[in-house]
Amino acid sequence: MKKKVLSMVLATSMVAAALVGCGGGASETAAPAADTSAAAEEAPAAEEAPAADAAEAEAPAATASGNKVGVAMPTKDLQRWNQDGSNMQAELEAAGYEVDLQYASNDVATQVSQIENMINGGCSALVIASIDGESLTTVLESAKSAGIPVIAYDRLIMNTDAVSYYATFDNYMVGTKQGQYIVDTLDLDNADGPFNMEITGGSPDDNNAKFFYQGAIDVLQPYMDAGKIVVPSGQIEFATVGTPGWATETAQSRMENILSSNYADGTNLDIALCSNDSTALGVENALAANYTGEYPVVTGQDCDIANVKNMIDGKQSMSIFKDTRTLASQVVKMVGQIMSGETVDVNDTETYDNGTGVIPSYLCEPVFADINNYKELLIDSGYYTEADLQ
Ligand code: BGC
Repeated sequence: MKKKVLSMVLATSMVAAALVGCGGGASETAAPAADTSAAAEEAPAAEEAPAADAAEAEAPAATASGNKVGVAMPTKDLQRWNQDGSNMQAELEAAGYEVDLQYASNDVATQVSQIENMINGGCSALVIASIDGESLTTVLESAKSAGIPVIAYDRLIMNTDAVSYYATFDNYMVGTKQGQYIVDTLDLDNADGPFNMEITGGSPDDNNAKFFYQGAIDVLQPYMDAGKIVVPSGQIEFATVGTPGWATETAQSRMENILSSNYADGTNLDIALCSNDSTALGVENALAANYTGEYPVVTGQDCDIANVKNMIDGKQSMSIFKDTRTLASQVVKMVGQIMSGETVDVNDTETYDNGTGVIPSYLCEPVFADINNYKELLIDSGYYTEADLQ
């Protein structure tokens, strides 16, 4: 029942997000004036979003003054966060801000102390991609008392009313696109099956992970109910498929166990639904070492270089492309709007409740990449060079 309600809430978000992409159709919420820098005037050009029907959301008081923005990223280990961080830095600096960019090696205590330093070091706004969405409540109380607005970047920060806004890609849509890719690739509407599937989910402490999982499962559930998709390991629920820390090694050893218990007799694995690229990489390693059957459809997310190379080599079927340049531009725009007391672009005021209420959000639209379109998406757009992928 609970799951149904979540599905409905998520489905609403999907429809809402389908109507608007990054830079389009945003509604706006008013941010109160901050005593702020001249630099905010020069916020970088981003597509003007037409005002939609008013979505009311309370904006927090932003009272800190100055020109420095703190950007807290989780880790340098994963390629995407390096890109997110450097894109944010470049765009903020181009807009005239000073930037304090920190990476926390996926260590929560490190991230907390980096954020403390940003608060004490005079940052006027914080952009935070959390490691553990549940662990920043205390440190963000200080940000709130200091009047420093906080934008949750990509991952929602839970259980704190210090978060002013959330900017991300539509996480539920990431999952539906992965699910739909499987449906289309295996022609599940016409094929009889049954197809064997194993699921590798994301980190349970990352709010996004549930949305990715639920989006994919909502698309695949009818085929599971009809017996066209079966899960030989029996590991289906979110709680049983998670990968703490999104670690490649953890995903790999879990899949090695699943393969040896369920596929060693020559049973084919047809579908490896993986929530992102770091977990897909683990699954691909496990398949390379322990599996001789027909190669499955393998999903992923982020278009990390290693995974795009695997896509080119036929070891991964698709990945979700989340153009971090788009997200960075959107967030820089929001920072400028907050700092200058303008209305802030949001396009979702229903989906992301962090335990203290719904956080006004801007959802960018993810797209899928596979062998047929990766050149256009990734190389022609300048995201990677040909050489990056060799
Ligand atoms: C991000 C994904 C990423 C994962 C692991 C999630 O919060 O949305 O893009 O693959 O974290 O870093």
